[in-house]
Amino acid sequence: MRSQIVICCGSGGVGKTTVSAALALKWALDGATVAVLTIDPARRLADSLSIGALSNEARAVPIEAFAPAAGGRLDAMMLDARSTFDELVSRMAPSSDARDRILNNRYYRFASEKLGGSHEYMAMERLLQLADAGTYDVIVLDTPPTRHALDFLKAPDRMAGLMDQGVLRWLVMPARKGGWRALELGSEAIAKVLKRLLGRGTVGEIAEFFDAFKSVADGMRERSIKVHNLLRGHSTRFLLVTTPAPAARAEALYFLGLLSEKEMPFGGFLINRYLTAPAHALRPEDIPDSDGLTAEQSADIRAGILQAVALRRARSEAHQRSVSDLRDAAPGDAGCWLVADQERDLHDLNGLVTLGDALPALADL
Ligand SMILES: Nc1ncnc2c1ncn2[C@@H]1O[C@H](COP(=O)(O)OP(=O)(O)O)[C@@H](O)[C@H]1O
Ligand SMILES: [Mg+2]
Repeated sequence: MRSQIVICCGSGGVGKTTVSAALALKWALDGATVAVLTIDPARRLADSLSIGALSNEARAVPIEAFAPAAGGRLDAMMLDARSTFDELVSRMAPSSDARDRILNNRYYRFASEKLGGSHEYMAMERLLQLADAGTYDVIVLDTPPTRHALDFLKAPDRMAGLMDQGVLRWLVMPARKGGWRALELGSEAIAKVLKRLLGRGTVGEIAEFFDAFKSVADGMRERSIKVHNLLRGHSTRFLLVTTPAPAARAEALYFLGLLSEKEMPFGGFLINRYLTAPAHALRPEDIPDSDGLTAEQSADIRAGILQAVALRRARSEAHQRSVSDLRDAAPGDAGCWLVADQERDLHDLNGLVTLGDALPALADL
């Protein structure tokens, strides 16, 4: 069975993790078999999804209380980038010796955990595993808390480069007998950074890493190609999550351009934390005098309330303009969903369910 894949992208803090969980829950309640792969969810949200600890294992989310339609099931996972990487290397290594040489190498340990991009790289690897397993109707992928949404798409290439025959390999090759290129290029900065990161003996260890890594490089490259194709598949959709705030909106628009450039399928904008306009046009005479206050004090309070309402109205108008910009930018048939800013806590299943009405049905993507 081919799984539908929905990837929630967007800049930091816009609600990717919340929306990923809410979408997955909605679709499961509608009767689909759904997996959601979350990345670094807030602790209370993780607890609500029964994924208290970092784990690649799928955990069934207890959704029975919400009376899911027949067939509805939700599994949640919290990406464990390091074990995903280790498993991948173990699977690809031609022998246990080759595997251990890589897994025990300090450069590998560093790169697989700390190097920018390793989480994105492994999120995609895990996605590929889930898609290959073919057990889910839908897989929802949350994306890592990068400052810039674009990092998600760029990171795997960058990471693959570092793990492959890239710049570092070239840097650590002896330029001529007796000297390392990185050290003699005047690129002291690089050498310094590497030394600081890994301590002494860095350069030799990196060379050793690349030597060991050769044995798994072909396998990794094949996986990268599969990921590349998966991200462009007919069953894949990128949902751009944003808030109406100018910076987030600008990034969403930029991301949209990048998706089309990379021929990745855009599924629509999900505009989160939208402020609706105040329901009534409030007039001063609508606000009664408060008991026990002087006329002057009451007037002050009245002015304060009116000011707050006016501010809210102005913000909501700005949000409406932002939404228009996004709608104008979206290709003709693409969806645009508005999710209101919620007063209530969204870290439990009840909270996530309340978002459901505003979210797209699976068939809408
Ligand atoms: N529609 C909403 N209304 C109110 N709070 C929200 C809404 N969406 C998300 N939040 C809150 O915003 C915070 C950031 O959301 P999160 O999903 O972690 O963002 P991201 O994954 O993009 O960094 C969380 O505390 C979450 O509960
Ligand atoms: Mg998040």
